[in-house]
Amino acid sequence: MSRAELVIAWSRGWARSRGVPALVNIPGGLRLDIGRPGHRRRYVLHTWDPDYLREIGRNISTPGTWLKIDCAAEELSAALPPHWQMFETSYLMSAPLRPERVDVPPPYLLTVGADQSRVVTATIRDRSGETAASGRLAAAGGVGVIDQVETAPGHRRRGLGTAVIQALTDHAARQGVRLGILAATDDGRALYRTLGWTSHTELATAFIPEP
Ligand SMILES: CC(C)(COP(=O)(O)OP(=O)(O)OC[C@H]1O[C@@H](n2cnc3c(N)ncnc32)[C@H](O)[C@@H]1OP(=O)(O)O)[C@@H](O)C(=O)NCCC(=O)NCCS
Repeated sequence: MSRAELVIAWSRGWARSRGVPALVNIPGGLRLDIGRPGHRRRYVLHTWDPDYLREIGRNISTPGTWLKIDCAAEELSAALPPHWQMFETSYLMSAPLRPERVDVPPPYLLTVGADQSRVVTATIRDRSGETAASGRLAAAGGVGVIDQVETAPGHRRRGLGTAVIQALTDHAARQGVRLGILAATDDGRALYRTLGWTSHTELATAFIPEP
């Protein structure tokens, strides 16, 4: 898959995972009409030049608009006027998905389930039933996009993030999904690297804050 294809596949899976209905093709990428407070609309670009980024930065002024651009944060920052704020860069990663053993450290318990839109959620609870870690996977066209992986602060570095990814991977692979894609935070990148995921590119991120 080319970088552009990865960016598009990730955007489509992310939209499914978050229940975003409207994806619109635009030059160089996609527009997602999200409609949530603080996150009204997102533009994702795989192909751009500095003039195009400057034009987008100048012409868009609606609070709650987000940009995710396949470029270095410095390039995006240099193109945007001051009403934009930079946000944490994410890293587009992928890995082949195969059925695998899921190691949930005791005394934690894992459940895996799919909702009506077939988005799969893996949840790990502690002894008291509180969620200690969770993550989601939305599959389309043989690609599974992993989203919202999080381990609660008091439960980190005990293998729970690993178990969530193993559970989602195993479930998706058994359904015939062959490739996993995700956009990782810095913490996430450290986790996914240990699990054999490959980093492809940076997604520089900026937004216009809502009052
Ligand atoms: C990223 C996150 C999910 C990791 O969860 P976790 O349950 O702590 O992960 P694991 O215990 O399975 O980590 C397995 C290995 O990944 C690596 N790793 C995980 N988190 C790391 C971090 N913050 N820094 C460096 N390495 C890390 C380590 O090699 C770790 O093994 P070790 O503890 O023996 O050194 C968790 O830090 C988190 O929820 N962060 C905030 C939300 C977030 O960024 N989510 C990721 C979205 S892509």
